[in-house]
Amino acid sequence: MARKFRMVETPRLILRPITPADGPAIHRYMADPVVTRWLPEGPLDAAQAQAFAEKNAGRYARAVAVVERTSGELVGHMPFHPWFGRATHEVGWVIAPDRQGRGYATEAARALVDFAFGALACHRVIATCQPENPASWRVMEKLGMRREAHFRQALHRETGEWWDEYFYALLADEHRSAPPEGTSPNG
Ligand SMILES: CC(C)(COP(=O)(O)OP(=O)(O)OC[C@H]1O[C@@H](n2cnc3c(N)ncnc32)[C@H](O)[C@@H]1OP(=O)(O)O)[C@@H](O)C(=O)NCCC(=O)NCCS
Repeated sequence: MARKFRMVETPRLILRPITPADGPAIHRYMADPVVTRWLPEGPLDAAQAQAFAEKNAGRYARAVAVVERTSGELVGHMPFHPWFGRATHEVGWVIAPDRQGRGYATEAARALVDFAFGALACHRVIATCQPENPASWRVMEKLGMRREAHFRQALHRETGEWWDEYFYALLADEHRSAPPEGTSPNG
């Protein structure tokens, strides 16, 4: 992904490749157990956040940084990488708690979906989350994604928990004829 992803701008945000210098900024929100409640990697300590930044700054990056234009601060990151199957990308979102509730995840995700169907010529974009995380599946629905599956107890966590999973997708054709924001194909 990193080989093709350069930078995407939205009205309020800049999406750019992660760099090793982003480690401390990523640690600020990824250390918060509330933020990471539904993230498989769990809370990250400073060294783990640094390792995450370095891994995703490399050739095989699987996430991009979200920078707020007004402050210049890194306020989140978006998983964004090829998924199994041809011409398919997965997109995800993590926004720092003090920047949530402003529509940033939706704004950033919409730009990445446009990038996936445009520059990357994807056929399909997918996203997953847990049913107990409505802020996340609400973003999927605002993007016009379709809920294709509710997998029961599909993911086993180190804590011994089994997580259900919602699976959403959007096709290039559906994206071209996207309904207005806020409407959902999911009833
Ligand atoms: C999910 C997350 C990225 C959303 O970021 P955000 O910038 O606040 O998202 P947006 O403002 O674009 O949209 C969030 C939507 O969810 C809604 N929402 C938020 N919390 C909600 C809740 N508890 N119940 C129902 N809806 C909720 C918001 O009202 C908004 O919808 P609206 O525009 O129709 O009002 C953010 O909450 C986050 O980082 N969570 C922790 C990490 C995480 O769980 N990531 C997803 C893993 S699958």
